[in-house]
Order: sequence, then C-alpha cells, then structure tokens
Amino acid sequence: MRLKTQAIKRAVVTLQGMLPMQAIDYQSHNLLSLPEKFAGCFPNVATRKPWNPRIAQTGRMDRRWPNVGITTWDEATLLYNYSKMFAGKRALEIGCWIGWSSVAFALGGVHLDIIDPLVEVGTPQGDSVRESLTAAGVLDRVTFHPGFSPGKIREVGQTNAPWSLVFIDGNHEGDAPLNDARAVLDYCADTCAVIFHDCHYANIRALTAARILA
Ligand SMILES: C[S@@+](CC[C@H](N)C(=O)[O-])C[C@H]1O[C@@H](n2cnc3c(N)ncnc32)[C@H](O)[C@@H]1O
Repeated sequence: MRLKTQAIKRAVVTLQGMLPMQAIDYQSHNLLSLPEKFAGCFPNVATRKPWNPRIAQTGRMDRRWPNVGITTWDEATLLYNYSKMFAGKRALEIGCWIGWSSVAFALGGVHLDIIDPLVEVGTPQGDSVRESLTAAGVLDRVTFHPGFSPGKIREVGQTNAPWSLVFIDGNHEGDAPLNDARAVLDYCADTCAVIFHDCHYANIRALTAARILA
C-alpha cells in the first residue's frame, strides 16, 4: 500500500512538471489600471513563461536581453498605485534596467531618483529608459544617478532625500538587499513605503523590519 502511494505521488510530481502552466496577466482587485499607453512605451518588451514558476503570471523581458526579468503586470500596477499615493513626493528606485518599473512609478506622479550603473547616456539600457520615459511623457519627473548602491544611495540622499517611496530591485545577491534597505533608512520621509522586488529569493524574503533595523 505504501509503495502504491509513493508511486502515485511520483506520477503526480512528474505530471506537474510536464503540464504547461496557464500564465495570465493579472491585476489585483481595487487597483487603478495602468494608463493605456504604458505597454506601448516598450516596443522591445515581449512576454514569456513566468520567471517565478510558482506564480502563474505572464513573465516579461526585453527581446534584446532575454535573460533579465522585469516586474509582472500586477507588480507594475502596484508600483503605479503606490506612486499615486505619494504623487508629488520624491521616490527612489534602485535598479531600473530598461525602465519598465520606472515608467509605472513616474506615471503615478512621484519625482523619481534612479540609481543604476547602466543609466549613463549612450549605453543601450540608458538610452532605452530615456526613450520609454519620453514616450510616456514623464522624462521630466526622473533624475538619473549612474552608480552602485549602497554607496550611491548615501551620495544622492544628501541632496535629493527625503524619499517617501523606495523600490529595491538592484543587486539581489546575499546581503546586498539588506544593505540597500539599511542605507535608505537615513533618507526616508517620516511616512515612507519601502518595496522589495523578488521576495521569492530566500534572502529577500527574510528581510523583516526587525532585521533591517537591527
Ligand atoms: C532585474 S533588473 C531591474 C528591473 C526593473 N526594476 C523592472 O522591473 O523593470 C536589475 C537592475 O539592477 C541593476 N543593479 C545591479 N546591481 C546594482 C547596484 N548595486 N546598484 C544599483 N543598481 C544595480 C542592474 O544594472 C539592473 O539594471
């Protein structure tokens, strides 16, 4: 009987591995939808299977660099809605890549500082971000700071903080997200939301407020 149960379990596991997941674009309830023009600002973005195999939501990437992921439609919608809550205030994004999340933020109305080593003018990603922000009509709401966190956070924070909204999506390895969170604390407004991407990474999921403040 035990052998039979194990055999059935194995068959189920094998079948699950074989079944194609029905990924969809999803938007959480009670959120404002992203403006119609959003997707059109990214002519090189294509859909693919989910980056996180446990989440049945459509994945996306830029065709020119297919190995780097960007936020799902639901996540971009959440960023847009958070930005609406803090419209007119300053926000910080660490790690913008081609600017998919940056456009969602800027459309919501925050004034955005971006820290990323790739946002120099004349780099493919740096030019791409600027083109997408221009297409969305929000380039004037964004200030670029080419460089690496956490060092750059302190430099930019001295002049551009306080930030009311922070999105951490830069270096995902080891203690890097923790160090980013600790570095922004000194530059947050009294009321501030700090959002981490990729909480399916064990090191990011472990970032409780107690750990960051320790
Ligand atoms: C996954 S991509 C960001 C995707 C983007 N937030 C989105 O959803 O559209 C990660 C980005 O972090 C940047 N990055 C990596 N290490 C960094 C660091 N220490 N400081 C700032 N940016 C960093 C990379 O250059 C890359 O552009």
